[in-house]
Amino acid sequence: MSTAPQSTSQGTTANAVELHAVEKRFADFVAVRKTDLTVPEGAFVTLLGPSGCGKTTTLRMIAGLLSPSEGDIRIKGRSVTEVPIHKRNLGLVFQNYALFPHKSVFDNVAFGLKYRDVSRDEVKTRVKDALRLVQLPHAEDRRPNQLSGGQQQRIALARAIVIQPDVLLLDEPLSALDANLREEMRVELKRIQRELGIATVFVTHDQSEALAMSDTLVVMNAGWVEQVGPPEQVYNEPASAFVADFLGHSNILPGRVAGEEGGFVKVVTDAGATILCHTRDRAGRPEGERVRLVLRAERLLLAERHDPAPGTSLMRARVRTVDYLGQSARYFLTTIGEAGDPGADVDLQAINPIDRVPFPEGAEVWIRVRGDDCVLLDGGADA
Ligand SMILES: Nc1ncnc2c1ncn2[C@@H]1O[C@H](COP(=O)(O)OP(=O)(O)OP(=O)(O)O)[C@@H](O)[C@H]1O
Ligand SMILES: [Mg+2]
Repeated sequence: MSTAPQSTSQGTTANAVELHAVEKRFADFVAVRKTDLTVPEGAFVTLLGPSGCGKTTTLRMIAGLLSPSEGDIRIKGRSVTEVPIHKRNLGLVFQNYALFPHKSVFDNVAFGLKYRDVSRDEVKTRVKDALRLVQLPHAEDRRPNQLSGGQQQRIALARAIVIQPDVLLLDEPLSALDANLREEMRVELKRIQRELGIATVFVTHDQSEALAMSDTLVVMNAGWVEQVGPPEQVYNEPASAFVADFLGHSNILPGRVAGEEGGFVKVVTDAGATILCHTRDRAGRPEGERVRLVLRAERLLLAERHDPAPGTSLMRARVRTVDYLGQSARYFLTTIGEAGDPGADVDLQAINPIDRVPFPEGAEVWIRVRGDDCVLLDGGADA
């Protein structure tokens, strides 16, 4: 799926949604800072970030529930800054699905069509189609309180899509559901989105949800967009310490470039450990330059033996504590130096599959780090 903005000049290849330098201030508090964002036709774009980073505010501006303080929002190539919510043709689903409790499922879904010029027969057909799509074709006469949470959320989705919206806007629609149902609904939601081919902006603070569902991930932090890209790319090549740490658990070690070795950049951390790091698109860093190394917890492989290999670095460490996570274990480690080695006393986290040798607390282990699994960041101050 292309993430590049497409031409809007002729209208034929318009993106579903575009934000151009959109900012939202509440009095003198800036909730969303000069944001550019592109949602191509048919794409599933997720806004991911911690509580308060501006996800809902961004979505509400696209919906027309809030107006931007600055900038321009385009839907299908048309500026909508002055277009009220009911004329934007958007399907909205929020966390609390807010169905009408006294209306039947049919009437709840049909509600979206009430103020549209749609014949009775067509209302019937469309409601049936929408209910079939969410796999609740026989629920028409029930009331919301006769349905489970997941079923209610499907009805809310049916109500959003019955109007055949140009864009689907979903604000944490699964967060009220329990873990199992949530995963089930994830798959369902993705299927429905694909089947309709509808451009979707999905808001969540759940990283696994975001990684599993999105064509494009937009990581936000304190009103800023930190990084945009396909999930694999954002995960494997985080552009900042914030992204590295927010998506999974990362160890971030400050250090300096100390030359090259076998096609890898050699970095000596401030604690004195020497780590090789791939140079992909980051070649040519001068010796002595300050950098930060990002080592993902699940890429630090624990081993019993000292087993050197080209392009791999090894550190000696002691297991402080172990958390069992089900299929994997999270190890809290402290590096220990070999006789006088200064690369000691650094706390690291590693997540390894549980079927690997489960190291007990107090065990001494070797941590293997493949150069291909390290990411180098500038030595800036955003850690
Ligand atoms: N109407 C408002 N007046 C003043 N401040 C607001 C208003 N709405 C939101 N904010 C502030 O703007 C910031 C962003 O809020 P927003 O609801 O967009 O966050 P969010 O990313 O959706 O967070 P969450 O994950 O908790 O839903 C927050 O600091 C919030 O307190
Ligand atoms: Mg929110």
